[in-house]
Parts: sequence; structure tokens; C-alpha cells
Amino acid sequence: MPDSQPNLLRPNDKLEHALISAWLDSADVGLCVLDSASKVVMLNPAACGILGVDGLHMLNQPLTSLASAARFSLGITQWLDAPCDEGSRHASITRGNIEIDLLLKASVLTAGMVQALDIPNHAAFKVIAITDVTELLEAQRQVNSESFRRQWQALNAGVVISDARLPDMPIVYVNPMFETMSGYSSAEVLGRNCRFLQGVEPDQPGLSAIRTAIASRTNGYAKLRNYRKDGSLFVNELFISPVKDAQGEITHFVGIQHLETSPAA
Ligand SMILES: Cc1cc2nc3c(=O)[nH]c(=O)nc-3n(C[C@H](O)[C@H](O)[C@H](O)COP(=O)(O)O)c2cc1C
Repeated sequence: MPDSQPNLLRPNDKLEHALISAWLDSADVGLCVLDSASKVVMLNPAACGILGVDGLHMLNQPLTSLASAARFSLGITQWLDAPCDEGSRHASITRGNIEIDLLLKASVLTAGMVQALDIPNHAAFKVIAITDVTELLEAQRQVNSESFRRQWQALNAGVVISDARLPDMPIVYVNPMFETMSGYSSAEVLGRNCRFLQGVEPDQPGLSAIRTAIASRTNGYAKLRNYRKDGSLFVNELFISPVKDAQGEITHFVGIQHLETSPAA
């Protein structure tokens, strides 16, 4: 900590401080603390890695003085410089020749909020969690891109995407072939769980493989007896697969549906 900074650590709170330090050092998320004058008082190793800087060189400097932050917009610069502004922002930096997308989440610490720190009454510290979301945004761009949609749409099979993070895994996308196979329009099925296609047969044997795959977050396959909107029966050869985001978390399941002519198991 530079000389101009007050010594905020209380002597009898060394354990809490040691635990916080250990956690800051090992955290995957980048953490940066700015003082009331918007100068850096702490950057953890993850933040140094994401921003491509040496933490010591940044001490007592504004975060916006980073060479890699040259791409910060005026809005981001003003938000970083406003000691009491909390919330989240997206920002971009250039690290080497690579463009990095960041998610910045700020919260403000004031007097009395952390036991181990004697934060003076007038002071506020802005804690900024920094996450590299480059791969996540790229994946989202691909899913939303026209060419990606065209590939799903041109596929000669039904495609359903369900959101694995929401209760009961609602459908968030179906392709035109699904609409043709089932007779339901996209608007009629979005937000519902696919089980409605089973109509009067919600206990058919093939479902156990699908339930196991969903519970164990793996691929699954089954032949299912499904019903179109007009009530006619069709045999649906269903493959499901989990989809992970850049952090390895399963966010969606994709289902591919083929019309089968032989009877369902
Ligand atoms: C991506 C995805 C697509 C699915 N597509 C179908 C489908 O086309 N027909 C069907 O009967 N069930 C389908 N299911 C299975 C049901 O949504 C549900 O998981 C299954 O009925 C077992 O759950 P339950 O016991 O709660 O009903 C699909 C599941 C997922 C995750």
C-alpha cells in the first residue's frame, strides 16, 4: 500500500485479514479496490492476469491509466471515477493484440462494513469484480448470429434448446423442422417443458434414459411416443446433449429429434 494511504488494518483483526488475503490471492475472479480518489489500492493476481498488468505498478494509479484500458469509453471512465457508483458494466480492453471483453461489477465499502478494516467515516472504497467474458460473449454472438440460426433452420431434424438454469428447463428455441414435425409454432412452445409432447403417455419406458441423462448432465437417447398438435401419434428418436459455457457450467440442453417409422421402445 503506498505511503499516502492510511493503515486501515486493525491489529486485533489479523486473522480475518489473513483469510481475506488468502481468498483474494486464490480467487478466479479479478478484484480491484479503488479509494475515494479512484486510485488503485489493491489488485489481486486474477485481476493482474486479466488486465495484463503488474499489480505493484498500478498502485495509487487510476485504473483508467492502464495502457490496455485505452479502449474504455467515456461512460466507463466516468463510472469508474465516481466513488459511489455501483452496478455492472461491460468494457473492452486490448491486451497485446487481443481484444478482451470484461464484465465489471462494482460495490462500495463504507465505514463499518468490514470488521477488519477501519474505514474512516468520510471514505469509501469501490470494490470491482472483473471477469473476462470474451468467450462467453463470442458464444452468445454465435448462437444469435444469422448464419448459426440458418444452420439450425436448414437442419433436416427438429432442434429444441432448453435453458438448464431455469426451473423445469423451459424451451428457449425451436427450429422450423420442429414446428413441421409437431404442428406447434415456436410461439406456442417457448417457455414450456418438452414433456407436453408425450400427451397421455408421460410414463413410457424410454423416458428413464432421458431423465438419467438430465440428472447426470450427460448425453441421452430414447425413442419416444409423441403427439402432434392435431393429436396424431409420431415416434420421436430423440438425442439430448448438455451445452457448457466458457466457465464449464452447463447452461442449456440441445435436443435433436428425428421422425422414426418403427414403433417406439
Ligand atoms: C433439450 C430437450 C429436448 C427434449 N425433447 C423432447 C421431445 O421432443 N419429446 C419428449 O417427449 N420429451 C422431450 N424431452 C424430455 C422432457 O422435456 C422431459 O425431460 C422428460 O419428460 C423427463 O422429465 P419428466 O419426468 O419431468 O417429465 C426433451 C428434453 C430436453 C432437455
